Amino acid sequence: MHVAIDGPSGAGKSTVARRLARELGCVYMDTGAMYRAVGLLAHRLGVDDRDDEALGRMLEAGVEIRAALAPEGQRTLLNGEDVEDQIRTQEIGMAASNVAACPSVRRALVAMQRQAAQGCDVVMDGRDIGTNVLPRAEHKFFLTASPRVRAQRRCDELRARGQAAEFDQILREVQERDEQDMNRKESPLVRAADAVEVRTDDLGIDEVVQVLLALMGRA
Ligand code: DC
Repeated sequence: MHVAIDGPSGAGKSTVARRLARELGCVYMDTGAMYRAVGLLAHRLGVDDRDDEALGRMLEAGVEIRAALAPEGQRTLLNGEDVEDQIRTQEIGMAASNVAACPSVRRALVAMQRQAAQGCDVVMDGRDIGTNVLPRAEHKFFLTASPRVRAQRRCDELRARGQAAEFDQILREVQERDEQDMNRKESPLVRAADAVEVRTDDLGIDEVVQVLLALMGRA
């Protein structure tokens, strides 16, 4: 079984997808973490995160991105190094959005994602899962919420990680990232025609999970 969960940042996708995977006994795959890991690598190597050719060469040189299970949740490994905390900053979020607009990066990561999903039950979250990565997924959801609610959630998340977060600035960044993700040429963020849209403004995580399970006929 393949479940695709797409939507803008802060809509609650990753927390919901992780819980849903646990309820269903599926593997959870956070594709945003992969774009963030590529963004971090580019940043470290001084590669321009909008230069498609340079990023393509960087990936061809061999990059391994994996997820490792840990008691507190999943950790992202970049060439074997745990980079989970480093990829969760606003700066790397923006770098991820930049590299995600580059065809060479999307080609490489989509191939990895399709391969990982082959022959296993997976809940995958991202921006193009229902439209491009797993177009034949049995269940497709598109989670949304207003920019203000999403910015507030991002602030809470950053503060919980001990990082400084200023609401107005985060709101601007959320809007900038939405704009870029929705208007890029390559696989823009868009609801798949057969995805069910769920607005999460007034719903807690448990409620969203229950709504999705009900829509899947599993409640
Ligand atoms: O979900 P996130 O905030 O961790 O994603 C980081 C960036 O990666 C986001 O700006 C959009 C991009 N992304 C994408 O283009 N396609 C995906 N499947 C997942 C993320």
